[in-house]
Amino acid sequence: MTSTQMQEAAAGSLQFPPGFVWGAATAAYQVEGAVTEDGRGPSIWDTFSHTPGAIADGTTGDIAADHYHLYAEDVGLMAEIGLRAYRFSVAWSRIVPTGSGEVNHKGIDFYSRLVDALLEQGITPVATLYHWDLPQSLQDAGGWANRDTAKRFAEYAAVVGRALGDRVATFSTLNEPWCSAFLGYGNGLHAPGIADPALALRAAHHLLLAHGRGVAALRDTIPTSAQVSLTLNLFVVRGASASDGDAVRHVDGMANRIFLDPILRGAYPADLLDDTAAITDWSFVRDGDLQTIAAPIDMLGVNFYSPSLVTAATDDLAASATRRAHDAHQPDGPAAWPGSNLAYEVPQEGPYTAMHWRIDADSLQQLLLRLHRDYPGVPLVITENGAAFDDVVDRSGAVHDVERIAYIDAHLRSVNAAIDSGVDVRGYFVWTLLDNFEWAWGLAKRFGVIHVDYATEARTLKDSALWYRDVIAGNGLPPR
Ligand code: FCB
Repeated sequence: MTSTQMQEAAAGSLQFPPGFVWGAATAAYQVEGAVTEDGRGPSIWDTFSHTPGAIADGTTGDIAADHYHLYAEDVGLMAEIGLRAYRFSVAWSRIVPTGSGEVNHKGIDFYSRLVDALLEQGITPVATLYHWDLPQSLQDAGGWANRDTAKRFAEYAAVVGRALGDRVATFSTLNEPWCSAFLGYGNGLHAPGIADPALALRAAHHLLLAHGRGVAALRDTIPTSAQVSLTLNLFVVRGASASDGDAVRHVDGMANRIFLDPILRGAYPADLLDDTAAITDWSFVRDGDLQTIAAPIDMLGVNFYSPSLVTAATDDLAASATRRAHDAHQPDGPAAWPGSNLAYEVPQEGPYTAMHWRIDADSLQQLLLRLHRDYPGVPLVITENGAAFDDVVDRSGAVHDVERIAYIDAHLRSVNAAIDSGVDVRGYFVWTLLDNFEWAWGLAKRFGVIHVDYATEARTLKDSALWYRDVIAGNGLPPR
């Protein structure tokens, strides 16, 4: 600690436990670019982003932040911020371009170089195997609606485990399977752009199966010292009125317990099966699947941005043009999930981020306390939290993103309070390192603590990155 930091600690800064992991996260398709380079095969996001009308601002991830070429510079910036860990995702179609069969060694080399560069700087690599970019050939064979995709995922996981397991500290199987299933197959706002309730539930189950088989494949190929986890986007669901308890229960089942229960309790919740009985008979769940899915994990990654407010559906609401999907990404979109005739998301008061997501940091503490209470014993890591704002680059090139600093500060205080109450939270990864391709919203929404000028690919540390550097150095937040 510098003497200033020591003075701050003395003056009441909020400290985190020793060894708390400070990181930043990205995802392959959002930052890498180089989509046709070194043998990479196309993924569903290449196809989707090139579909007219799919992306709000008409951009694609073809170049994005060009991290594939600029990774060494980016690792240098991570070191400048003092990151202790970097969460990135591996693009399946760089490793196995057609999703099954032939392995592309040039793809492995890229991640191997990245991992080595991180380790040289003392930054712990945390690798996610699937952050939404399914090889297009697997989609052509049915994607996540096809049970075979789970098998292919396990084969791919073993390839990555063998190639990087000696150097990567933590592997995560999936990022946010809720989005893959319900935005990809429920309302079609994400790739592959399908809107079919029965397929969405089938996809959710096959994603869970892929996770379970992926855990087994990783355990077989990585040293016992390396950890295995997965990341869920978990929802804090509140009712718009006192009579909305059943709507809250329904949405909690569809958003949270549909993944948490099979993974951490080995069973789907009974009320979820009831709620969806008219849509599917769940016959895609085979003997032994739940046992595979419930394979022990070392850690649960939690992504959190904004709470949800829901109300019971009425005939009026169901028929009305203002009906809202429960979809944190696009609240005005069509219904994301099967059974959404039972509950709807209602607009919330601000303050908002540039995504129009309500800012409510206390919700994160509530979520962590709930996980601690209902699913005890699994260590938690915040694998994503952060905010998009309409950043302004001033004449000197600086970005004074005070709102982003306030957002991260408030959420870190919430995490700190949860830790104080006994919740085992091991680390925090800010979303995101670099401005990047924000899925259905394109390049226009900026979440980075580092600004990217897409015309030149020049990087500039925003004030939030400099602030985060001080937080990391002091292992705590400055007094407010
Ligand atoms: C999460 C995604 C991540 C990013 C943030 C804003 O749902 O995991 O890739 O888009 O939202």
